[in-house]
Amino acid sequence: MKKNIIVSPSVLACDYAYAADSLKAVVDAGAEYLHLDIMDGAFVPNLSFGPDFIKALRPHTKAVFDTHLMINDPLRFIDAFVDAGSDIITIHVESCDNVRETLEYIKSKGIKCGVVIKPKTPVSVLEEYLPIIDMILIMSVEPGFGGQSFMPIALDKLREAREMIDKSGYDIDLEVDGGVNLKNVASIIEAGANVIVAGSAVFRAPDPSAAVKALKGE
Ligand code: DX5
Ligand code: ZN
Repeated sequence: MKKNIIVSPSVLACDYAYAADSLKAVVDAGAEYLHLDIMDGAFVPNLSFGPDFIKALRPHTKAVFDTHLMINDPLRFIDAFVDAGSDIITIHVESCDNVRETLEYIKSKGIKCGVVIKPKTPVSVLEEYLPIIDMILIMSVEPGFGGQSFMPIALDKLREAREMIDKSGYDIDLEVDGGVNLKNVASIIEAGANVIVAGSAVFRAPDPSAAVKALKGE
């Protein structure tokens, strides 16, 4: 199934003091999603922001809030991130023993759910979740920090995941996260991704709106 390319700028890379205005600008430029990275200092060696920040941003935009939980035992915080205004919540397959239960809980709240894998986790682990997920997220860096270099192994994993999705017949988006820029985006889309997360490539660009358009190939 051929899908439109969606750009999901990563809020982690914007200047938080001006977040609402910065996000408005990239959404006006055509970013349909906003990617919200949640880090707990345990599952990943870094801290970011929590549900209160998401709640504060919510009234400023109608963009789809794409919340990426990099936290241990995410089930504990699903209510908080749903209440804050998330439209999609993705959880790491490596972050808990109750992945299925957590995904079902997210769905029961009336929003979309997805599964994320780190660079060393094989795509095959995702197969059992295909009937319940709306999105697969392939990490193209070790999660924890923005501004890292894209790991080429992610291209093979995107191809494998795209084939798995297409064979399954389910309507599942394929997202990529980490080190995406204007130089590598074409090969990433060619490999099968249809949701493109970009932090530095958008918010560290001289013109973030132009960067969103360029990533979309406009
Ligand atoms: C990394 C985060 C990414 C990060 C991407 O753990 O999940 O979303 O913000 O940033 P860039 O695009 O700068 O690699
Ligand atoms: Zn992310």
